Amino acid sequence: MAKKKFGWGLIGYGGMGNYHFEKLSLRDDVEIIGTYDINPERCKIAESKGLHAFASAEELLNDDRIDFITIATPNEFHKDYAIRAMEAGKAVISEKPVTMSSEELDEIIKCSEKTGKLFTVHQNRRWDPCYRTVKKIHDENKLGRIFRIEHRVHGSRGVPGDWRNRQPGGGMVYDWGVHLLDQMLMMMNGAKVISIYATLTHITNDEVDDGFTALIKFDNDTEWIIEVSTNNFISLPYWYVLGENGSAQIDDWKGNGTISMVTDWENKDAVPVQAGVGLTKTMAPRTDDTIDEYPTEPVESNWAEYYDNILEVLEGKAEPIVTHAQQRRLIKLIENIFTSAEENKVIDEIF
Ligand SMILES: NC(=O)c1ccc[n+]([C@@H]2O[C@H](COP(=O)([O-])OP(=O)(O)OC[C@H]3O[C@@H](n4cnc5c(N)ncnc54)[C@H](O)[C@@H]3O)[C@@H](O)[C@H]2O)c1
Repeated sequence: MAKKKFGWGLIGYGGMGNYHFEKLSLRDDVEIIGTYDINPERCKIAESKGLHAFASAEELLNDDRIDFITIATPNEFHKDYAIRAMEAGKAVISEKPVTMSSEELDEIIKCSEKTGKLFTVHQNRRWDPCYRTVKKIHDENKLGRIFRIEHRVHGSRGVPGDWRNRQPGGGMVYDWGVHLLDQMLMMMNGAKVISIYATLTHITNDEVDDGFTALIKFDNDTEWIIEVSTNNFISLPYWYVLGENGSAQIDDWKGNGTISMVTDWENKDAVPVQAGVGLTKTMAPRTDDTIDEYPTEPVESNWAEYYDNILEVLEGKAEPIVTHAQQRRLIKLIENIFTSAEENKVIDEIF
């Protein structure tokens, strides 16, 4: 049988490591070479699934058949493995968040530049259908000028009782925030962040944040609320988007939801209604003849494009979709969220 194009190795065969393994096993242009996991039990499970387990990371990194690796260990170990792998001549995909500080990220980027080896990060949620659906609504200017986007992920189980529960590298800003913030930066397409105010929650956990809320303003006059929470027994909608002429709400990961467009903005006929114990004209509900409501059109996406791109980069035919500059901005945003929350202040740095 002809050799497949690129040999792949995996460091950290946990939940996400297995996800990468299963997905890459379906490709005919990738040769699965093996994994290394610090936990012998995980190595046994890997072997039982036909995935060779190396005895050490060194052995994996010295294997000439491996062209590129994915790092899917807990967050605190990404940096050292990324640097060791690039120095051993391997291209590197790190799971998110690649590091916990811009200094560490700079060390990795410097190593990538020095060795000429690819270093990129698995920002897979750029392919989430709900994100794609909102991005389309945004890019097509469907609602008129969008002035506010709220994006929430709400759970009710606290922080999982694994490495996410401790420092360094645990908590929801790193775990989920990194996805939502990356999606936001992508959708804002180069608009500059002009201010950030954030709060962290510690409802169930003192050591790491179990959720956060960030209000982020851009120089294109769009403001965002990004919220991750793990103590919500009633969830708010995933996305809530406000434009001058309409609103959109997304209710699931697939992008299903509702768009409501005004058809008669002036609506001079509004009459005061009883609201609670008073009257209001301002908050009077609209009548059907001034509103056009219809379902969103969920956008499908194909996450396999992520690895398609990696292989094209390895062949010298493309640039990586997830770039160093994007990662620098993302980590800076995360650092600013922590500073804002810790010091209870608005960060008005422009970047
Ligand atoms: N992109 C996504 O959608 C997504 C989803 C889940 C997790 N992740 C990321 O993937 C990474 C792993 O998360 P997970 O949920 O699979 O965790 P996990 O705990 O299921 O797996 C981590 C694995 O790494 C191994 N490990 C721990 N320390 C190691 C070390 N020093 N060297 C080698 N192996 C080591 C553990 O034994 C375990 O098998 C994290 O960075 C996480 O943020 C990404």
